[in-house]
Amino acid sequence: MAKTLLICGGAGFIGSNFIRWLLANSDVSVVNYDALTYAGNLENLSDLESDPRYTFVHGDIRDAAALNKTVGEQDFDGIINFAAETHVDRSISGPAIFVDTNVSGTLALLECARAHGIRRFLQISTDEVYGTLGRDGTFTEHSQLRPNSPYAASKTSADLMVRAYHHTYGMDTVITRCSNNYGPRQFPEKLIPLMILNALDDEPLPVYGDGENVRDWIHVDDHCSAVWAVYCNANAGEVYNIGADGEQANMDVVRAILQILGKSERLIRFVADRPGHDFRYSVDASALRSNLGWQPRHSFEAGLRSTIEWYRANADWCAHVRSGAYREYYRQHYKL
Ligand code: NAD
Ligand code: DAU
Repeated sequence: MAKTLLICGGAGFIGSNFIRWLLANSDVSVVNYDALTYAGNLENLSDLESDPRYTFVHGDIRDAAALNKTVGEQDFDGIINFAAETHVDRSISGPAIFVDTNVSGTLALLECARAHGIRRFLQISTDEVYGTLGRDGTFTEHSQLRPNSPYAASKTSADLMVRAYHHTYGMDTVITRCSNNYGPRQFPEKLIPLMILNALDDEPLPVYGDGENVRDWIHVDDHCSAVWAVYCNANAGEVYNIGADGEQANMDVVRAILQILGKSERLIRFVADRPGHDFRYSVDASALRSNLGWQPRHSFEAGLRSTIEWYRANADWCAHVRSGAYREYYRQHYKL
């Protein structure tokens, strides 16, 4: 019989792309359990509503009773946890919800998985747990955990709890740590969709500091295939980095977007730097490639072009996510 997975946080950017990827590339069924915070959007999954293998449950990972009800109702093969507060800037202005959701929420989910004897628990983590790099070097799975932002500290705490559940209770857990994702349906508080949408609307493009900070970009579909490779083939207790050798300075990303859209660099506006801004991330994903045979399919150049096309072709989605509370956040954060 085909497996059923509980996907937590499936209405967000990566979770929704993962569910779509999984239904297209496997015969599993999916229950998407999501609290629908400002970042959760059922429009991200509207094309899947009539798929009999897809079900949505509105629920919070911090709510043990609701979790137990959902998990008790059917026979789940595993849980994949994408649910989190994810934006570094928001964690700087309000860290408490990051501890609540990312740490306490993950703990509640682990407890539920343990109580119900769930076969495998995959925690979606981030390369930010390793802290920052200078101009040289790269993060391996053995790099020290040195998180710098409240967001990164909360994700690291969750990773340590997942590790503890493996060692203490013998639970089958695995952790993935991916670099910066880009692609369709990303909430436009993150660099690439923010710059694309502002450029399309001829609004200023706010670059923090001098724009020399480096991020290691991966197309979200490559992240999805990597998560599935880890879910299916990793050994219990393992950690895998995910990355596609896509290092770019922020200014280069912004310039590339303007160039593809045929817009002027005069739209670029240098603004105050992010406090504690990590300088550079670089992920060594060689273990994933050699142990599990995974490889990325998207180059940054082609992936950025197709991503820009998606936002251009989905003006309704863009208008909806940029209305109401988003405008207020934007005004307060950027003061532009
Ligand atoms: P996102 O902010 O787009 O989506 C997060 C989702 O989690 C939303 O649907 C939201 O409603 C849901 N959620 C939040 N709190 C919840 C709660 N208490 N209970 C249930 N659902 C809740 O995030 P994303 O960018 O898609 O990131 C997904 C995961 O991947 C996160 O764990 C993040 O740390 C990790 N990650 C992200 C990136 C990236 O570049 N975006 C890179 C590496 C790892
Ligand atoms: O590395 C993985 C992480 O990538 C994930 O764990 C996080 O959930 C995700 O948000 C992302 O974190 P970053 O802080 O790297 O992403 P963000 O898009 O916020 O910023 C990317 C870079 O762009 C960073 O150096 C800050 C800069 N930036 C960002 C924004 C929003 C700007 O210069 N201007 C901006 O307006």
